[in-house]
Amino acid sequence: SQGVMATQFFTYKGIPFPCLEYSPETLDYVDRQFQVQDDDIFNITYPKSGTNWMLEILSLIRCDGDPSWVRSVLNLRRAPWIETNRGLQNALRYPPPRLLSSHLPIQLFPRSFQSSQAKVIYTLRSPKDVLVSLYHFSQALHLYKDPGPMDAFLQDFLSGNLHYGSWFDHVAGWLGLRGQKNFFYITYEELQQDLQGSVVRICHFLGKKLSEEQISSVVKNASFQTMRENQMSNGSQIPDEYMDHQKGQFLRKGVSGDWKNLLSEEQSHRITTMSCERLHGLGIDFPWD
Ligand code: A3P
Repeated sequence: SQGVMATQFFTYKGIPFPCLEYSPETLDYVDRQFQVQDDDIFNITYPKSGTNWMLEILSLIRCDGDPSWVRSVLNLRRAPWIETNRGLQNALRYPPPRLLSSHLPIQLFPRSFQSSQAKVIYTLRSPKDVLVSLYHFSQALHLYKDPGPMDAFLQDFLSGNLHYGSWFDHVAGWLGLRGQKNFFYITYEELQQDLQGSVVRICHFLGKKLSEEQISSVVKNASFQTMRENQMSNGSQIPDEYMDHQKGQFLRKGVSGDWKNLLSEEQSHRITTMSCERLHGLGIDFPWD
């Protein structure tokens, strides 16, 4: 389907990317030449799955719960996106140990990861809430295609005709790594149900020993409310060239199940059907099922 293009797109190995901030050369470099280090920690998600939430949690864990870093350094500087032109430059200049972010599907992720001990934290979220969050956000962020009417947008979502491609492929691809000891995955829904317990699990995966007090500080400073008030985390610093701040915000609602306010039963059913078809074989019970 068409949709209004807010920016020009190009396709790299079948995945659409906006020309603003992305280039085939950068993506090719990231795939083939980017050197993953053993002490790298990667925050990986499909867009709108809780990327910035996890980024905040990882930033706070790194500082033993001390919020001064998250209050003074912009989130995308704390964990640059390796695949954007500018993010890559920042990643290459980052003194180790690096905290890095990516929305790349696994087939475009740096090859050097395979032979490294770098750790990946993959956060995923109910596809219906991702769709709804993305629908709202696409109206504000110029990097995304204007969503148009929901039916057309849903069609794009199901066929993967979106920035970063198909949610279903993304999830199936990354979750293929489960069982590998440098791979950890968690859902947005789990973070919401039990943030403290989730932080404990993440610390365990990272081999970080935090006191109870430090864990509480991570939880407090990564809350929706605190993040919303933090200029370094709430997206308010994104230049107008990239985002229309009147039309949407990064920390929009921060709840699960908001899709019920926007999707018809038929639309919801189409997502459920495709989820069953595409993800059933993984043998995972997702918390939203
Ligand atoms: P909604 O649009 O449903 O509110 P990403 O960071 O991957 O772009 O994901 C954005 C989504 O995560 C938004 O969802 C946003 O509100 C939610 N989010 C960000 N920080 C959060 C937090 N601390 N607690 C709960 N949700 C959070």
